[in-house]
Amino acid sequence: MRCRRYLMLVTFIKMWEVHLVVHRDTPENNAEIPFDFTAENYKRLEAILNNYPEGHKSAAVLPALDLAQRQHGWLPISAMNKVAEILNMPAMRIYEVATFYTMYNRKPMGKYHIQVCTTTPCMLCNSDSIVEAIQKKLGIHIGETTADKLFTVTEVECLGACVNAPMVQINDNYYEDLAPKDIEDIIDELKAGRVPKPGPRNGRFSCEPASGLTSLTEPPTGPGFGVRPDL
Ligand code: FES
Repeated sequence: MRCRRYLMLVTFIKMWEVHLVVHRDTPENNAEIPFDFTAENYKRLEAILNNYPEGHKSAAVLPALDLAQRQHGWLPISAMNKVAEILNMPAMRIYEVATFYTMYNRKPMGKYHIQVCTTTPCMLCNSDSIVEAIQKKLGIHIGETTADKLFTVTEVECLGACVNAPMVQINDNYYEDLAPKDIEDIIDELKAGRVPKPGPRNGRFSCEPASGLTSLTEPPTGPGFGVRPDL
């Protein structure tokens, strides 16, 4: 029994190291590989830094890391070091931020990052069928990237679009009210180099009631409606 517990602990520590916190040098991710922002992104960085007063520039750490990730496609350690240098912060403080937020991807990603929500509301609306459809269509499992480096699939917690469950986020876009066929079509369009229209796939507008409007069904009345005529 004690041996089993020990093994579980070792497995947990290994998973924690691999997936969450610890950086291990790899050929594509080590501090020797130079990273610098492009001239265009230096202008963006300047605009971001101008949002914060002197002495508080470190508050720009989140958007600066995001900018680095958008430029590179993921966030290598040398990009974190560059952000530390620019913001004049200890590198360790940058690592702490980058390992805390799951929006920062510290390993190479596919061009399209499919994040499938499987939290309770999505799960109750059959997000399992969406996960299955994606895995079958791409021939990979959660956490993996396709051989052509086009898609990476991850499983995430609630993305705040529960009313349109089940849903996925692909890069910056939300695709909602999904059936397995919808996600297959979306993947086909991305493969063809097109960006499918974001939003609900069941015909409703945004997050209006799925069974049709129950209020605001007529044009709004104009100014003065219901006011005494002598006023
Ligand atoms: S539970 Fe899936 S978006 Fe909230």
